[in-house]
Amino acid sequence: MTALSVSTSSVASLRADALVIGVAKGPKGIVLAPGAEAVSEAFEGKLAEVLTTLGATGAEGETVKVPSPAGLKAALVLAVGLGDAAEGGYGAEALRRAAGVAARALAGTKKAALALPAESADEVEAVALGGLLGAYSFGAYKGEGGIKEPVGELVVTAARKGSKDAKAAVERALIIGEEMNRARDLVNTAPNDLNPKGFAAIAQAAGKEHGLKVEVLDEKALLKGGFGGLLGVGNGSVNPPRLVKVAYTHPKAKASLAFIGKGITYDSGGISLKPAGHNETMKCDMAGAAAVFAAVVSAKRLGLAVNVTAWLALAENMPSGSATRPGDVLKMYGGKTVEVLNTDAEGRLVLADAIVRAGEENPDVIVDVATLTGAMMMALGSRTFGVMANNDELRETLHTVAGEAGEQSWPMPLPAELRKGMTESTIADLANMGERMGGGLVAGLFLKEFVAEGIDWAHLDIAGPAFHEGAPFGYTPKGGTASAVRTLVRFAERTAAGDKA
Ligand code: BES
Ligand code: MN
Ligand code: ZN
Repeated sequence: MTALSVSTSSVASLRADALVIGVAKGPKGIVLAPGAEAVSEAFEGKLAEVLTTLGATGAEGETVKVPSPAGLKAALVLAVGLGDAAEGGYGAEALRRAAGVAARALAGTKKAALALPAESADEVEAVALGGLLGAYSFGAYKGEGGIKEPVGELVVTAARKGSKDAKAAVERALIIGEEMNRARDLVNTAPNDLNPKGFAAIAQAAGKEHGLKVEVLDEKALLKGGFGGLLGVGNGSVNPPRLVKVAYTHPKAKASLAFIGKGITYDSGGISLKPAGHNETMKCDMAGAAAVFAAVVSAKRLGLAVNVTAWLALAENMPSGSATRPGDVLKMYGGKTVEVLNTDAEGRLVLADAIVRAGEENPDVIVDVATLTGAMMMALGSRTFGVMANNDELRETLHTVAGEAGEQSWPMPLPAELRKGMTESTIADLANMGERMGGGLVAGLFLKEFVAEGIDWAHLDIAGPAFHEGAPFGYTPKGGTASAVRTLVRFAERTAAGDKA
């Protein structure tokens, strides 16, 4: 794990392998961003000229390396592009991305100083978090030398001398960055190494480490409790399902939140088997569970004054002689019956059980997070998650906090007429499939059926952004991204601060 610290001493005298500065696109060529002053001085005011000669334009994501002149302790200067020059500050997301780009570019080195704009505590936090997320790598299955070691140590150089705020900001970034990277590890782990039982054991161990209450329902307890959704999805696999509850309580909490995560450790589609080309990345189908787990641990480590319970709905969706058949009827937790018309629409089945169970504890708000539908990816692409809710204000709040946290989301409707196809099962209360058009919304409408009266509920469909298949960008690597973690943490913080959810 990359070490992270903050320094307010002079950038020129910092011992590091590289100094990172920001450059932006100005109207008349590149502009050096705040934080680069000491480096610019060491270049006797010629730094912008040198960088331009080397081809720097300030475009977002660009990196240009220059050997340091005398006067700097670090051997190398790395200029990262921030995009268009901004008078009133660069904004947290631009800083996170620039720091992430720098950390990726410096993989293999021991120590780097991030001399990016960092005057306010928010800026310090953004640089620190972007750096830590960019320094992520997953080498669990590679032989020696198979991956470039992430940069060993990052020092954020903060402008305000001796500021306590800067230290606190780095501490916050460290907690969120570590928990996000843990969520990424869980998503990236091969599905033969992470099944429901193993995931539950990881939750128990982390709960112990951080002082959280963890309860695990195994297949026997699920049977006794009547969790027909989890059992119906899990019964095709030799690895039985689990429902895991991870509870964080604060003595001064005035509100309680339930975060529910879809935790399909592998989604083959079941008897409605996915064709080749659609199942290679389906280890990512537990990204919702990883996100809610990371969020509750973060809430605890941040000491937020709000009660947060994470529910991990864990199962493996496999075809076998004991698997649920298309046409089977499941009796869900709480008593509703569901005709399974397509075993590949399994996420809503495990989530429904968890939503009913979570509702019994009367939380103020339920937020579920799930890689639920390919249809949501069709609608919003691979970097934006959809936000649905049974309450307009809550939907807007989640969309807003996602933006504040640096995550792309978009509000989606739950149109009443799409409910019809799903309720037309001739033999059960509901079918797990409805109209094909608007499939992401149909899935949301299915979940809504299981939310108890009077509870505010929102649903984040992260099928697009949970797993990144393209080239890395900003602080986003290939593979697991930890989508929705920052949104959940920010939502919990807002709730703790007493802002109306
Ligand atoms: N896990 C998938 C959704 C998914 C697709 C996530 C691509 C990430 C990337 C989900 O269980 C699923 O298979 N959904 C079906 C539902 C359909 C059968 C109603 C889908 O989207 O095709
Ligand atoms: Mn599926
Ligand atoms: Zn799935």
